[in-house]
Amino acid sequence: MSTSGSAVSGRLAGKVAIVTGAARGMGAAIAQRFIEEGAIVALTDVLPEVQATAAALGPRATAYLHDVADEACWREIEAELTAKHGGIDVLVNNAGVLMFKDLLSTSAADLRKLLEVNVVGTFLGMQVVGAGMVARKRGSIVNNSSADGFEGANSLCAYVATKFAVRGMTKVAALEFGPHGVRVNSVHPGGINTPMANPQNVPVEYLNQAFRQYAAGRVGSPVEAANCFVFLASDESSYCMGAELAVDGGLTAGHYYWGFPGAPEGMQGPRPV
Ligand SMILES: NC(=O)c1ccc[n+]([C@@H]2O[C@H](COP(=O)([O-])OP(=O)(O)OC[C@H]3O[C@@H](n4cnc5c(N)ncnc54)[C@H](O)[C@@H]3O)[C@@H](O)[C@H]2O)c1
Repeated sequence: MSTSGSAVSGRLAGKVAIVTGAARGMGAAIAQRFIEEGAIVALTDVLPEVQATAAALGPRATAYLHDVADEACWREIEAELTAKHGGIDVLVNNAGVLMFKDLLSTSAADLRKLLEVNVVGTFLGMQVVGAGMVARKRGSIVNNSSADGFEGANSLCAYVATKFAVRGMTKVAALEFGPHGVRVNSVHPGGINTPMANPQNVPVEYLNQAFRQYAAGRVGSPVEAANCFVFLASDESSYCMGAELAVDGGLTAGHYYWGFPGAPEGMQGPRPV
């Protein structure tokens, strides 16, 4: 634990955290839950809205305009936070971009664009912030992969490539950093109601219709995903290293056979043709 924030309580009391892509969506929810649990949080994003998101979280939150693909910017933020607080305890590599294009329509430039943010951004975060954690022999890194880091999906060739890569890099970092007291794990969300997954801001009751064939039978909220990050950031997960935590309402748990016992209500009776 670093030096600042000693008066607060909570599961992350006094821990210094960076959350990337925190202007909105899951990143903003993670930052909020971290603050509620007593952490000092640096919210970073390319969107200027990150300033307002941080301001709303109170004095333990600060904002940085930051492109995760920019190595020099990573080094500046790491150095500033380390000088101010004595070290960084938690890094959440959450920033990500999505693109829907089938494989034949995906250009190499499209693929490189997603790789740059989702893969290079996560890599740089682990390298720059992880180095300080390894030197201090403590820390937790949580990488936001996806349900799409477990299985393929049509129109998501580039995105799936990046999320499998995040899952794989997490394992390597867990193996290399673990002996130095630094834990690295991945979270695999699916169906979380954020601007990325729901850009038209469709009301939840309509969205839920599309999820009737999954175990949860509904979409998930950003806070439900953020709670997984709290666990992996906290000392409660002290024996989790290279673990994959799915928070996807059962999306990747398997599938139902229509009309057989155990299927949800919407899949009982004869299958509509
Ligand atoms: N919403 C879901 O159902 C879902 C499912 C699986 C995985 N994810 C992953 O969760 C993470 C958060 O997604 P979200 O749903 O909150 O999406 P979102 O689009 O609402 O939020 C992503 C944030 O990342 C920021 N960002 C994008 N490029 C950046 C860059 N180069 N540098 C810094 N910040 C950048 C965006 O400005 C945005 O604020 C992403 O990595 C995404 O791939 C989301």
